[in-house]
Amino acid sequence: MSNDNVFSLFFFVTLFTCLVAAIAQDGHIFLPSQLNQDNSLSSSSSYAAADSKLNQRPVIGILSHPGDGSSGRLSNVSDVSYIAASYVKFVESGGARVIPLLYNESPQNLNKKLDLVNGVLFTGGWATSGPYLQTLQYVFKKALERNDAGDHFPVLGLNLGGNLLIKIVADQGDVLETFNASSLLSYLQLWSSANDEGSLYQRFPSDLLSLLSIETLVLHNHKYAITPRKLQYNRNLGNFFDILATSTDRDDKIFVTTARGKNYPVTVNLWQPEKNAFEWATSLKAPHTENAVRVTQSTANFFVSEARKSSNKPNAQEVRDNLIYNYQPTYGGAAGKGYDQVYLFQ
Ligand SMILES: *[C@@H]1O[C@H](CO)[C@@H](O)[C@H](O)[C@H]1NC(C)=O
Ligand SMILES: *[C@@H]1O[C@H](CO)[C@@H](O)[C@H](O)[C@H]1NC(C)=O
Repeated sequence: MSNDNVFSLFFFVTLFTCLVAAIAQDGHIFLPSQLNQDNSLSSSSSYAAADSKLNQRPVIGILSHPGDGSSGRLSNVSDVSYIAASYVKFVESGGARVIPLLYNESPQNLNKKLDLVNGVLFTGGWATSGPYLQTLQYVFKKALERNDAGDHFPVLGLNLGGNLLIKIVADQGDVLETFNASSLLSYLQLWSSANDEGSLYQRFPSDLLSLLSIETLVLHNHKYAITPRKLQYNRNLGNFFDILATSTDRDDKIFVTTARGKNYPVTVNLWQPEKNAFEWATSLKAPHTENAVRVTQSTANFFVSEARKSSNKPNAQEVRDNLIYNYQPTYGGAAGKGYDQVYLFQ
C-alpha cells in the first residue's frame, strides 16, 4: 500500500469508529454541540419538573400608543392609537398571544382585558403625559397589585415605556437626563445582578452574553435616560430597582439601559429587542445579524417565560374574542421610515 492509501484507510476507520460511538449512545446521533453541552441538557431537565405548574398558554397585554405611529401617513383620526406589529411578533415569537389594551378605552373594558392576560408590555413612542400616561400608570398599578395578591404578573417597559416606569417609581419628574443615544448601536456592560435568578440576561445563552460587550447587538433610540448614580441614590428607585446593564452614549456618558424590580417581576429596558428581528427602516440601523436576532429571541423567551409563571387562567373564549387577531396590521413601511407594520385602533 502506498502511504496515501494507508492514510485513507486510517482516516475512514477513524471516521467510522467516531460515528459508531456517536450512534451508540441511546441509538441517537448526537451532534458535536450536544455532546459538549451538558449545561443546557441538565437545565432543561430541572425545568421539566416545574413545567406542570407553569401556564403554557400565556397571553400578554400590550398598551396602545396615541397616533398612527406613522406621522399621519396612515391615519389622521384624532383618537387613533397604534401598536407596532414588531412588538406583537416579538411576544408571539416567545410563545404567547397578545391582547391589545387601548390607552383610551373605558376603565371597565381595560379591567376586563387585564383579567385575561398574564403580563403587560409598554412600548416605545413619544407620549409622556395626558391620558396615555394616566392609563399606563393605572395598568402599572394594577400589575403591582396582581403581584401583591400572589400572582406572578410580569411587566416589560421598553424604551419610552421603560423611562415612564422609572419616572412613575421615582415619583419625581426630573430624574431623567438627556443623552446622545438616538439611533445608536450599543454595547452592554452587564452588572453582577444580571446573573440573578429570573433576570433577563440569565436567559441569554452564555456565548451570546459574552458577545454583548464585544459586538454592537442592540439598538438604542432615545434622548433621555437615567444615570446609574441617580437610580441608586433616589430613594424610591434605589429601593425598587437593581441595575442589570448600562451603556455609553455618543458623548461617553453612561446610562442605565436595563433595570429589574427587586421585589416585582418588572423589567425596564431602553434598548429595543423587537427591532433586531422585525423592523427594517434603513434610517434606524437596527442590527440584523444572526446574533442580533438571537438577542431578540432570548429577550422574548425571557418575557414569556415570566408570563408562564402567572397562574391566571381566564375563559378561553373571552381570550379569543379579545386577541389582536381581531385586527389586521397595516403596512406603514413603504416610506422607508418608521414602523414596517402597525395595528391601528380607531
Ligand atoms: C394626514 O394629514 C397630512 C397633512 O395634512 C397629509 O399629508 C396626509 O396625507 C394625511 N393622511 C391621511 C391618511 O389622510
Ligand atoms: C451627539 O454626538 C455626535 C457625535 O459625537 C455629535 O456630533 C453631536 O453634536 C452630539 N449631539 C448632541 C446633542 O450633543
